[in-house]
Amino acid sequence: MGLVTTKEMFEKAYKGGYAIGAFNVNNMEIIQGIVEAATETNSPVILQVSAGARKYANPIYLKKLVEASLECIKLQGKDIPVVLHLDHGPDFITCKDCIDSGFTSVMIDGSKYDFEENVALTKEVVDYAHKRGVVVEAEIGKLAGIEDDVAVSSDDAMYTNPKEAEEFVKRTGCDSLAIAIGTSHGAYKFKGEPRLRFDILEEISKRLPNFPIVLHGASSVPQEFVDMCNKYGGNIPGAKGVPEEMLRKAATMAVCKINIDSDIRLAMTANIRECFVNEPEVFDPRTYLGKAREAVKNMVKHKIVNVLGSENKA
Ligand code: G3H
Ligand code: 13P
Ligand code: ZN
Repeated sequence: MGLVTTKEMFEKAYKGGYAIGAFNVNNMEIIQGIVEAATETNSPVILQVSAGARKYANPIYLKKLVEASLECIKLQGKDIPVVLHLDHGPDFITCKDCIDSGFTSVMIDGSKYDFEENVALTKEVVDYAHKRGVVVEAEIGKLAGIEDDVAVSSDDAMYTNPKEAEEFVKRTGCDSLAIAIGTSHGAYKFKGEPRLRFDILEEISKRLPNFPIVLHGASSVPQEFVDMCNKYGGNIPGAKGVPEEMLRKAATMAVCKINIDSDIRLAMTANIRECFVNEPEVFDPRTYLGKAREAVKNMVKHKIVNVLGSENKA
């Protein structure tokens, strides 16, 4: 099948009441863990690359690793839809570079700008992308926490305004929209009880019927990994994510794409830390990175089967 866009994936997910997992990729082990999980569960999947990932791994390496994973799927006689997506594209030029190099989906994150500037920038990317068969995710509203170089405290978090969301989509022609309903990036999402504004999501879906919504900052920060990190020398007390029941609920509503990065980081770090403490004689990176890869795979499988609901939807 090769790389596909999110178009058909989101249409099916919207109708079927499930969501597609969008997992951030930064190296070979992460790509392998995610792709093996998606292949074994026969699930569509989105592999997303941030500007930071491009800087860390080199865009050419990431592209080739993704291509290698597609070849491996084929060699197993399997066929699952895979999207290669730019996460939080900071500007037109980064989006253009990704579109030109074969990405099937890009996000232009103009949420740091005011409404009119965000519309203009998003429209510019949409015009370029659509001419080349690439889909565009945009964002309106600011997530709590640190997003790009803008720090937003939880108290200041600006939820997406449904009326603005409607106008934004109509004026830009974007294919999906990331909204702020209380999630945030990273491992510290809520000080008190987790709370998401499902009322805002509901209102947006009434104004934009059948339009796919994206949830960023949607890691659940599994307590098991937090405890393992802390037990084996880490220091991340009080880390807390979005409860899985809330993600499941969002997936049955208009949310078609659920972004997960922190859970990958936690799964890898917890297992590497455990290996270093329990097996101090180990110094072969394949041993601890192999464990990390297995942990990513198991975590992604769990998400697909129990949270996203995308198992057997390939
Ligand atoms: O939304 C942010 C993602 O977790 C990517 O993070 O910019 O550190 O690669 P990064
Ligand atoms: P998390 O930090 O919750 O994993 O969010 C990832 C994300 O939104 C990537 O764009
Ligand atoms: Zn994000």
